[in-house]
Amino acid sequence: MTHIARIEDLRLLARRRVPKMFYDYADGGSWSESTYRANQSALEKIRFRQRVGVNIETRKLATEMVGHKVAMPVALAPIGMCGMQHADGEILAARAAEAFGVPFCLSTMSICSIEDVAASTTKPFWFQLYVMRDRQFVARLIDRARSAHCSALVVTLDLQIIGDRHKDARNGLSTPPKMTPRTVCDLLIRPRWCLSMLKTSRRRFGNIAGHVAGVSDMRSLSAWTNSQFDPTMTWEDLVWIRKLWSGPLILKGVMDQEDARRAMEVGADAIVVSNHGGRQLDGAPATIEVLPSIVEAVGDRIEVLFDGGVRTGQDVLRAVAFGARGVLLGRAYVYGLGAMGEVGVSQCLRIIEQELSLTMGFCGQTDIESVGRDILFEAEKL
Ligand SMILES: Cc1cc2nc3c(=O)[nH]c(=O)nc-3n(C[C@H](O)[C@H](O)[C@H](O)COP(=O)(O)O)c2cc1C
Repeated sequence: MTHIARIEDLRLLARRRVPKMFYDYADGGSWSESTYRANQSALEKIRFRQRVGVNIETRKLATEMVGHKVAMPVALAPIGMCGMQHADGEILAARAAEAFGVPFCLSTMSICSIEDVAASTTKPFWFQLYVMRDRQFVARLIDRARSAHCSALVVTLDLQIIGDRHKDARNGLSTPPKMTPRTVCDLLIRPRWCLSMLKTSRRRFGNIAGHVAGVSDMRSLSAWTNSQFDPTMTWEDLVWIRKLWSGPLILKGVMDQEDARRAMEVGADAIVVSNHGGRQLDGAPATIEVLPSIVEAVGDRIEVLFDGGVRTGQDVLRAVAFGARGVLLGRAYVYGLGAMGEVGVSQCLRIIEQELSLTMGFCGQTDIESVGRDILFEAEKL
């Protein structure tokens, strides 16, 4: 049995268990992948102030994100095709998040549908929306999220067009996947994954299949989906969405102070500082590099959430120290899911919690809500 103590251990196990096409889909970025790498390396460079002589026996990680109580300032990010990392992946991840007490965010591009995840869980989850060209479909998705009692709507703004991800092109990742002799061999050496995929009926985009007229088989589904990402989307569409959705509205993909202000103007409750995990604009700064300026731009008028490159509890603490209300975990939990399904996602959350709690202690902190920039080494230079 592999010893699992770090997110990196989960990644290595996922790489063995998930077919290359889907593993690479998760563990890759756009073009040169420089922004993808920068997210993680910029976080690692930030040092903490080690403090002593403080009673750190009890340390409180619980807090609130967009008005919801959370066991720690972490949510599971929306990830397309989670159900290809592991059969029924979205349901398993949602269950692990629910048991742990952190929000799960379901992607528009999930394999399990909103209704399916709602029926398989007992607590509300967040729903991530892509603003597709077909605005009636968008309105219906919002209605479906409301009927499923989703507790926040996360609208992703940074995928109007799609960054080139060379690994996906090389691996023939498409719907349906291109079956070359190499792909077939790759599947054959992963019988556990194949068997579980054969057992489940959830193998298509669950939020789309059966919900759009004329879209029935894999090819029409793929053609419709590819034509639907909308380069014409503007802030006006957000005004429209704000009218349709009265619950917490989170805008994801903000990397600029001006856009952060626009997000406030359209009535968002929170933003996610995100570059889509380095999968879109290659050459964008690391998210941690822009976080302080965005926090400064919005003050405490809306919540600032953060993602990109978070692989440790230390990274969560770094983002919180810079003013993030909470952090979204992307690949960190996807590796857990690919490695061991629901158990792997739970393990990921436990690892992050343990690292976060101990690191707070070493910094002389006992309550996550009082963590500020002063826990960072040479904070004045950051
Ligand atoms: C495989 C994969 C699929 C993703 N799919 C979506 C998606 O459907 N919607 C979305 O808003 N973001 C999506 N993202 C971006 C994540 O929500 C998040 O911003 C990113 O993963 C954070 O970076 P990290 O993976 O380094 O933690 C995806 C990311 C990955 C790795």
